[in-house]
Amino acid sequence: MKHLGVLTSGGDAPGMNAAIRAVTREAMARGVRVTGISHGYAGVLAWKAVELTARTVGGIIHHGGTILGSARSQRFSLDAGLEEAVRNLSAHEIEGLVVIGGNGSQTGAACLSGKGYPVVGVASTIDNDLCGTEIAIGVDTALNAAMEAIDRLRVTASSHRKVSLVEVMGRNCGYLALMAGLAGGAETVVIPEVKVDPADVMARLKDAFERGKEYAIAVVAEGAEYNGIKLEKYLQNLTHKVGLEVRLTTLGHIQRGGTPGAFDRILGSELGAHAAGRLIEGECGILVGWTAGKVSTVPLSEVAGRTKIPDVKVLELIHRLAQ
Ligand code: F6P
Repeated sequence: MKHLGVLTSGGDAPGMNAAIRAVTREAMARGVRVTGISHGYAGVLAWKAVELTARTVGGIIHHGGTILGSARSQRFSLDAGLEEAVRNLSAHEIEGLVVIGGNGSQTGAACLSGKGYPVVGVASTIDNDLCGTEIAIGVDTALNAAMEAIDRLRVTASSHRKVSLVEVMGRNCGYLALMAGLAGGAETVVIPEVKVDPADVMARLKDAFERGKEYAIAVVAEGAEYNGIKLEKYLQNLTHKVGLEVRLTTLGHIQRGGTPGAFDRILGSELGAHAAGRLIEGECGILVGWTAGKVSTVPLSEVAGRTKIPDVKVLELIHRLAQ
């Protein structure tokens, strides 16, 4: 292989730049040219690309987001889009592609691979909902951002004897909410994977004050049936009766931006370098992830269209430790 492409796709994740840098420098160390494709699969179709060199990926390891830009492309998922993508990549003499992204992006990578084009995926999503890897680039930084927000909310909630409801991202997966709740010492966490009666949430919050607490925190996943807005509305209809005040804070993209922590820089570097190496050595159709403390790979076909379920037993632990 003489020339490979790299793109970032889906929601940006802190640590993506470390992965772009690692793909580029590993490839260059092996004498392979690298083209960075802008704005994910949309850039493959509209052909927006830049030559990456050791210098153009310099000074980016500590920046959040992605220097290549990212996007979600509907057109790419269609058969005609996939064929056009293969034509464009081949026309520019790109012999293989590294796709840095999450669930939808790796499903796209599997489809491209199904067309016979050499692709290697790199696990990157704050949601941690990607099968075939224990953790993905961006999860740790996003989790720390959510935890820090909870810490700040606890300070003000305790000064005013309030209930703080914190909605975190994660799409349809409750991983971020669960772990942020555990790390932030929440009374309870509401996630899509566990059906919850809002009356139970109310009871847990009320009980916290009755046990002598000066504040209570509930973390809610954006994908839960009772998301932040619905739960706040439900609780506000009742709280005046029990003398509690509830305030919702929706963290949203605050979790995705920001400086990548050490773990995500390390993960981006390890996974990016490994992906470039495997692709150059002729292996493709795989997702590069991190399992049991080291780099791991699984076929993209085992990852495509699936969503990882978090360990819901953590919820019991959160409730036990909230006493
Ligand atoms: O997949 C990452 C993620 O941040 C999800 O947690 C969230 O649901 C989604 O992306 C938001 O996407 P967008 O930024 O396109 O609205």
